[in-house]
Amino acid sequence: MNILAIETSCDETATAVVEDGTKIISNVVASSTQMHEKYGGIVPEVAARKQLESIIPVIAEALTPLVKNGLSKQALQGQPLQMALQQSIDAIAVTVGPGLIGSLLVGVETVKTIAFVTGKPIIPVNHVIAHMYANFIKNDKREVISEKKNKIQFPAISLVTSGGHTELYLMTSVKDLQWLGGTLDDAAGECFDKTARILGFGNGGGAAIQEAAKECKMPFGKTQDRQSAKCKIILPRPMIQDEGLNFSFSGLKTAVMREWKKHEFHKATPCGVGFARGGFDKTELTNAFAFEIQEAITDVLVKKTIRAARKYQAKSILLSGGVSSNLRLREKFSILHSPFSIHVPPAQLCTDNAVMIGSCAFFRGKPEDWHSITALPDLSVE
Ligand code: KG4
Ligand code: ZN
Repeated sequence: MNILAIETSCDETATAVVEDGTKIISNVVASSTQMHEKYGGIVPEVAARKQLESIIPVIAEALTPLVKNGLSKQALQGQPLQMALQQSIDAIAVTVGPGLIGSLLVGVETVKTIAFVTGKPIIPVNHVIAHMYANFIKNDKREVISEKKNKIQFPAISLVTSGGHTELYLMTSVKDLQWLGGTLDDAAGECFDKTARILGFGNGGGAAIQEAAKECKMPFGKTQDRQSAKCKIILPRPMIQDEGLNFSFSGLKTAVMREWKKHEFHKATPCGVGFARGGFDKTELTNAFAFEIQEAITDVLVKKTIRAARKYQAKSILLSGGVSSNLRLREKFSILHSPFSIHVPPAQLCTDNAVMIGSCAFFRGKPEDWHSITALPDLSVE
């Protein structure tokens, strides 16, 4: 079954064709991120306008491999992309929420039009839940699910950690989910993004923090060395000891703001404490903060996920969402001596894409007629 999938919940315009929920036929992502740089964040109006312009070209690009692969000579003499859509696509999946209303409407209305003209069924998809299905895509950079050794086994714990969400789910089968907990305030990605701005990385977000953390040459190389370090930046690990499965990251952001101001002040006024005493420059200071922010966020994510896995006697753990492309998070999970098989998609399938939408639609979607489809910006993830 070939599904044409469309994702426009935030600033990306992404399309894909996915076969049987696991095989990528095409994967196209157009982003307006650079345009938002100068405004210091995503401007919904700008994002939606850009998506309106790019939606048809990216759909055309996603359909192109079908023209090359599967069409009859007769079809090729007609309008090949339209014929590919008509002949080779069985259903169209679209993100209906949660997300920005203007952006969602671009995808939803485009898909309704295509469905109206072609008569194809639409499969509405929840963006946050779709993230975890990036783990079911066959890929040589990830465990192939059909291989016994690396198979995802149920029950599984799924951590979706992105710019807007940090959610834990119990998966009892490829389509049956139970929400276990989520963030009470900021998401982990939001915390990366906001603290990156405090450190002066603009919209670079988690990726910028990851790169700066790699450069950290402070007296400590590992979290546990902090006690003996000359310079101590110690940030809280919010709710890490809490037995529940909820998260909270807004306090960490506030702590970073407070500590950053303190150190900047001390640096400007060499009063013999903190960084000024060590004589660290601004780059070293920034790298050290990046290191500790990344440690704090990833410590909490790992601890809570493992707690959930133990509680529900999971066999596998699935990571997904933009933050799961973080190398330190992956490293922490990979060095754990745990009984769980741990799965994470390649980086380009962690951040927003339409492949995950096509896969989710295949495994748990219900086809609907175009009349009943509508954009749902506040769609629940629970
Ligand atoms: O899943 P995603 O692409 O979009 C949402 O659904 O929100 O996730 C975007 C988030 C951003 O907060 C971004 O800073 C974060 O993922 N992110 C990272 C990394 N790459 C992207 N966070 C930490 N380390 C990274 N390498
Ligand atoms: Zn996302």
